[in-house]
Amino acid sequence: MRILITAGGTREYIDSVRFISNASSGKMGVALARCALGRNHHVTLLTASVSLPLPAAAQRHQVVSAHDMYEAVKALFPQCDCLIMCAAVSDYTVRKRAQTKLKKTKEALTLELEPAVDILQWAGNNKRMRGKQQKFVCGFALEDANLHKNAEKKMAEKHLDMIIANSSAAIGADTSAISVKVPSLAWRDYPAATKTINARRIVRAIEACVRPGEGIE
Ligand code: CTP
Repeated sequence: MRILITAGGTREYIDSVRFISNASSGKMGVALARCALGRNHHVTLLTASVSLPLPAAAQRHQVVSAHDMYEAVKALFPQCDCLIMCAAVSDYTVRKRAQTKLKKTKEALTLELEPAVDILQWAGNNKRMRGKQQKFVCGFALEDANLHKNAEKKMAEKHLDMIIANSSAAIGADTSAISVKVPSLAWRDYPAATKTINARRIVRAIEACVRPGEGIE
């Protein structure tokens, strides 16, 4: 498969030096890329903020903001068979970014945010491309409560072929407990494990769903 994997946390700049982001390390996405390469897939790794060595064998692209990542996914998606949307993408972006560093004042400061585009939603809506085989779209769900229920809602709303649910404790951590769901099967809950072990579980689960040349079952 030609697999497009996104990793890391996007940054929404407020001014020339400050940004809003999240605690994503990119470890899960990089582990997925390494695992997929080890299983002879062609990997394109699209990273936002990641402070880890990236696998040299992957085709690498780097972006900053949710909007940059959206543009890059739109450009790279047509050439892939599978998208794994592992990046922690900002849900909101700064409405008016200052071009220079904001000066402090004695007043309270209110930042106006506007919704960022949901990249995974775009991919789910566009996975059937005219004249091309349907793409396999896998998303993640980070939930503090009602893990299965909320993740299943995301899977349905975003037209996903697989969802990986985990708690927000997973963000930035070395280990995580994941739950995997495809629309036609029950949840599979795995105990906490390293992201390398989880990456192997995820890549193998995707391989089991996608038979090259036969489309998605
Ligand atoms: N995602 C995305 N674009 C965004 C936000 C999220 O593509 N602007 C993707 C993430 O990469 C992940 C999935 O959507 O694969 C779910 O992200 P999550 O943060 O769990 O949920 P949201 O859809 O953002 O909803 P909420 O934050 O309200 O739970």
